[in-house]
Amino acid sequence: MLTKIITEGTTNIEVPIPDENSSFPPSSAAVFYNPAMKTNRDMAVAAIACFSKNEPDYTYLDALSASGIRGLRIANEVGLNTTMSDWEGNSVELIKRNIELNDLTNCTALKRNANVVMYDGSYDITDLDPFGTPAPFLDAACYSTKRLLCVTATDTAPLCGAHKKAGIRNYAAVPLKTEYYPEMGVRILMGAVARTLAKYDKSMTPLLSYASAHYVRLFVSVKKGIVKADKCLENMGFVSHCFNCGSRSWKHGLAVHIEEKCPVCDHKTTLAGPLWLGRLHDREFCELVLDEIEKREFKIIDKLIFSCRDELEIPMHYDVHKVCKMLGITAMSTVDLIFALKEKGFQASRTHFSGISFKTDAGMEDIKRVARELVNHD
Ligand SMILES: C[S@@+](CC[C@H](N)C(=O)[O-])C[C@H]1O[C@@H](n2cnc3c(N)ncnc32)[C@H](O)[C@@H]1O
Ligand SMILES: [Zn+2]
Repeated sequence: MLTKIITEGTTNIEVPIPDENSSFPPSSAAVFYNPAMKTNRDMAVAAIACFSKNEPDYTYLDALSASGIRGLRIANEVGLNTTMSDWEGNSVELIKRNIELNDLTNCTALKRNANVVMYDGSYDITDLDPFGTPAPFLDAACYSTKRLLCVTATDTAPLCGAHKKAGIRNYAAVPLKTEYYPEMGVRILMGAVARTLAKYDKSMTPLLSYASAHYVRLFVSVKKGIVKADKCLENMGFVSHCFNCGSRSWKHGLAVHIEEKCPVCDHKTTLAGPLWLGRLHDREFCELVLDEIEKREFKIIDKLIFSCRDELEIPMHYDVHKVCKMLGITAMSTVDLIFALKEKGFQASRTHFSGISFKTDAGMEDIKRVARELVNHD
């Protein structure tokens, strides 16, 4: 395996040299390393630094570690006692060399199945960064995590409804391919995490959750206790979508009656769920992460966190182009439509999910009316 030493954050890491002919690092490489996930790791460093502020004794598990790059950064840049684990011998040898390279004394490297590591011990903070779906690791992670669970999922097609059967198998929920598919992905994954934690009498509070082009990422704080776990499950429910007029509604509960006909156009609706209908972020936590990012000069991710902080906590965003296409009118700017909705007394905001999308408490009929008026006015 050809390697080189790079610096990410303030950590030096020996990593495999990526194949120049491939646009994406192959999962068959001797040790996996994806430079494009730097922003994901920067976010982990900033979020975990905030979460563990004044708690230097928190333990962190990088359960699927590969080169160790994620765990090494947490050990070096946040200072937590870190365990890095991978079942590949090549990975663990590299992790050990990387621990030496950075003179770290707060790290342990294990060559073990991640599920065994998690069922064998408990960690304050657990990070799952698998190939594709985290589903095979969720049970053990929910069992083992005491305070913070960080999950990356790169199986966006199953989560968002493009590969529906795989989504159903992995998450025991029905995803739906709609114009708000990235939010579908976040809420399906979040729902699966909430239900898995509940098995172990644990609840969660989402601190920061987002979808980027290739993955979904969640940071949820975890607490033990059946009362909180029951309360947490009250955030679960279903989304009912009308593919005829674009209306959508949602209903909380795991066994609920949902009207099969669209209240707007009478067309038959389609269901997605069970999924998470609650909040996706904690505003105060986003503020702390923003400060941390400024301090650490991880500039590139601040825009994303500002958008997460400021977006309305209303499920399922709308797409300006889709609305305008349905109306047969030229697309207007997202900002103009948001402004017009607010002028009419609705709540409306941009969303991190897409630059041409918005969140609002207005229904589809009102949105269409406001969009039509805006075009006629121009
Ligand atoms: C996507 S890579 C991790 C990337 C790494 N976290 C980073 O930021 O660069 C997934 C890793 O999980 C390891 N892996 C997959 N299944 C595993 C299992 N059941 N137990 C332990 N390691 C596993 C693979 O060997 C691979 O190194
Ligand atoms: Zn309808």
